[in-house]
Amino acid sequence: MSKVIAMAGKGGVGKTTVSALVTRYFTKQGKDPLLAIDADPNSNLGETLGLDIDKTVGDVRENFMKDPQGVPSGMDKIVYLEMLMNQVLIEQPKFDLLVMGRQEGQGCYCMVNNILNRFAEELEKNYKYLLVDNEAGMEHLSRRTSGRVDMLLMVTDYALRGLRAVGRINDMLGDLKLDIKHKGIIVNRAPKELSQAFLDEVERIGVPIFCILPDDENLLEFDMAQRSLLDLPDDSKAVKAVGEMMEKVQEVIV
Ligand SMILES: Nc1ncnc2c1ncn2[C@@H]1O[C@H](COP(=O)(O)OP(=O)(O)OP(=O)(O)O)[C@@H](O)[C@H]1O
Ligand SMILES: [Mg+2]
Repeated sequence: MSKVIAMAGKGGVGKTTVSALVTRYFTKQGKDPLLAIDADPNSNLGETLGLDIDKTVGDVRENFMKDPQGVPSGMDKIVYLEMLMNQVLIEQPKFDLLVMGRQEGQGCYCMVNNILNRFAEELEKNYKYLLVDNEAGMEHLSRRTSGRVDMLLMVTDYALRGLRAVGRINDMLGDLKLDIKHKGIIVNRAPKELSQAFLDEVERIGVPIFCILPDDENLLEFDMAQRSLLDLPDDSKAVKAVGEMMEKVQEVIV
């Protein structure tokens, strides 16, 4: 069964950046196939990985709903939708990317969602690791057929307010039908030494810190130059920190 690594955290704290760095980690390791899933309706994981995205699962869903009779004659609906989904999957030599795109509008989406979910389930079996970059909420994860998450990485900036948002997400997890095996906190743009007040709050939340991610000027430079984070140098601070984190994550989720 594939191992699911998912991101959580409030807006703008670095979920997509960490997702891109985790993707980079797996591509450099090169042994296990990875499926990266961009579950943010405001998708930008592809961009950080230097990929052009022209179609999303949401587009397939909406186009189909607009014209359910538009299935080519003689073709089964399911086969047709699966064909369209295959076109959405972006295949790279060392990883694949599925962009979920916009969420569903009004209407009865059950049938089409069932087909898309089944397709996703079958697709996911081909990968050892799934990485889910989430929107600030947890909607995508809670809608997955299997709510299993092997490692939930909760990202916060180095601020008590950000950390308390992680605390709230953590409290909310119990209400979602998710089976979360392990959780870890990533403190982004943090100094080496965390303040006692911050550590006390971490203790209160009761989730271990998995990564202290320093501010990395390369990230700003790559963002401005619209360069893929896959091309970050090996000695980049963020690359090293996420590499160390992933060693731990892999030990925990084996
Ligand atoms: N450690 C870091 N050092 C420098 N810049 C960083 C770091 N982490 C994130 N950033 C920058 O902060 C910005 C926001 O990061 P990112 O897009 O990853 O956040 P997000 O949590 O995915 O946001 P959203 O909730 O909007 O999806 C980006 O411009 C990114 O380059
Ligand atoms: Mg993001």
